[in-house]
Amino acid sequence: MKLVFATNNLNKLKEVQAIVPSHIQLLSLADINCTEDIPETSPTIEGNAIQKAQYIKEHYGYDCFADDTGLEVQVLDGEPGVYSARYAGEAKDANANMDKLLDKLKGKENRDAQFKTVIALYINEKIETFIGICEGSIVHQKKGALGFGYDPIFSPKGYQETFAELQLDEKNRISHRARAVKKLVEFLND
Ligand code: IMP
Repeated sequence: MKLVFATNNLNKLKEVQAIVPSHIQLLSLADINCTEDIPETSPTIEGNAIQKAQYIKEHYGYDCFADDTGLEVQVLDGEPGVYSARYAGEAKDANANMDKLLDKLKGKENRDAQFKTVIALYINEKIETFIGICEGSIVHQKKGALGFGYDPIFSPKGYQETFAELQLDEKNRISHRARAVKKLVEFLND
């Protein structure tokens, strides 16, 4: 089965490819010659995922899934949430985003946070959504060099390490995206 995964992020593609069964052939945006920026203008994570999947179906005709992820920090009322990528500005600079978040959490005792991924699948003229959550907390300083985004400051529940200190297969077992992808794969297998 051929399915487009609407992403340009090679880290994510690698993570998802490792989880999807081999009979599902994932096509990237490059594989379908989609080079334009796909609109992400919804105020919610779920809305953005749906918008992206619909865009590919409408413009390229492929069944498709798209994901959108946000880091939700409890004491900041769910910030940065849908704005995670550009929290510190349009440059989408991961280090600047982490610095801004660490700054906002200075002096705060509650550092509970969760990553939330929503996958929207456009298939057979219908849209299905799958949600994956990974609970954890924001550490006080960056640790580790693996992964991407907020990985150096997010420590998943039950671990001393941050995501950036965990090997990819370990992160893949417990991550928000892995959990959402697992639900997607279960659905596709049915
Ligand atoms: P996206 O919707 O997957 O592009 O994610 C939006 C933003 O959330 C990214 O630009 C990252 O800053 C952050 N993010 C998403 N997934 C992860 C992750 O697994 N680790 C760390 N940060 C992430």
